[in-house]
Amino acid sequence: MIQFGCNRLLVAILFIALFACNSDNSKYNAFTPGELWLDDTNEHINAHGGGFLYHNDTYYWFGEHKGSGKDGSRAFVGVRVYSSKDLYNWKNEGVALQVVKDTLSKLQEGCTIERPKVIYNETTNKFVMWFHHELKGEKYKAALTGVAVSDHITGPYQYIDSFRIHAGVLPLNMSQEEFDSIPEINENQKLTKQIRIDQAKSGELFKRDFYGGQMSRDMTVYVDDDGTAYHITASEENQTMLISKLSDDYLSLSGEYIRILPGERNEAPAILKKNEKYYMFTSDLTGWDPNPARLSVADAIMGEWALLGNPCVGTEEQVNTTFWSQSTYIIPVQGKKDAFIFTADRWKPENHIDGRYIWLPVKFKNNIPYLEWADRWDLSVFD
Ligand code: DGJ
Repeated sequence: MIQFGCNRLLVAILFIALFACNSDNSKYNAFTPGELWLDDTNEHINAHGGGFLYHNDTYYWFGEHKGSGKDGSRAFVGVRVYSSKDLYNWKNEGVALQVVKDTLSKLQEGCTIERPKVIYNETTNKFVMWFHHELKGEKYKAALTGVAVSDHITGPYQYIDSFRIHAGVLPLNMSQEEFDSIPEINENQKLTKQIRIDQAKSGELFKRDFYGGQMSRDMTVYVDDDGTAYHITASEENQTMLISKLSDDYLSLSGEYIRILPGERNEAPAILKKNEKYYMFTSDLTGWDPNPARLSVADAIMGEWALLGNPCVGTEEQVNTTFWSQSTYIIPVQGKKDAFIFTADRWKPENHIDGRYIWLPVKFKNNIPYLEWADRWDLSVFD
């Protein structure tokens, strides 16, 4: 009888030990795009429009905390951060940037914070977060970029400010003569898609916002091998993109920037560099609905950009919807050469918190990146 009791106790201890081992943050060993993805507390990861940073042997995932329902896209919490050693298993590290109750602050609860990206400045030892910021109650009208800073990667981040960009400053690729020859925009005509495209191509939208500052919506930041950081954003009613060099401390935009792909309508930029070429994945403009991705290339980040086309291969539906997702960031996998993960959001506008993550390995053909669907895959694809 005593023997039997002992055995039962032993089994119970073993069971508890096994359970404890299992909750050591390593329940996944593969990516399953579009499935629920649970963090260490068994909650679906809540970090949409994500940005990633590798620091001290750990990956960090920053993203929009979404709430439930249709209104869940507004910021009532802020930017969340998760950490991982292996990219499969993520630990909830809490809220990195918290929205505030102060109704005088641009960062007040109910504003919109999208696509946060964090970079580390080696000189100042500060972590700098950039994000797309819209003011409470103003939908997407303000079109600001926001910046916050912290001494610690997981925060708390101190909000600095949000603003329109490059007020009164010409891009490096537009001369004063060119600017002077741009006609004034006619704001009274009935807007169509083609009129917006024409207004961007002619520079009218650029001129409209020249003194008040250019719009900044979907954005990313990219740190080049020499430590120079760039802010890449959808501007001019999302018709044109601006690439701006950041200041040395990464806390502001330097005056140097270029205006690219006017009238090409790009959102959701994500950058990778391979063989000294810069590739940018973007999407078309269809709100939360998916659309075909685009790939652009440049020999210099502040140089000439050319559209290459749709980087997706697969069924018509996969190619036309980017696997039912929209790009957010390209993660360089550490310790492997030219290994990149394309990360994207499968938005759920009817219940934002249920948005899913689409991660796919970036493949290359003749050195040009492309994407192909996989139900399940792991990092051994890069071996
Ligand atoms: C598409 C953008 O890429 C998202 O970040 C978000 O701004 C939605 N539009 C809103 O409709």
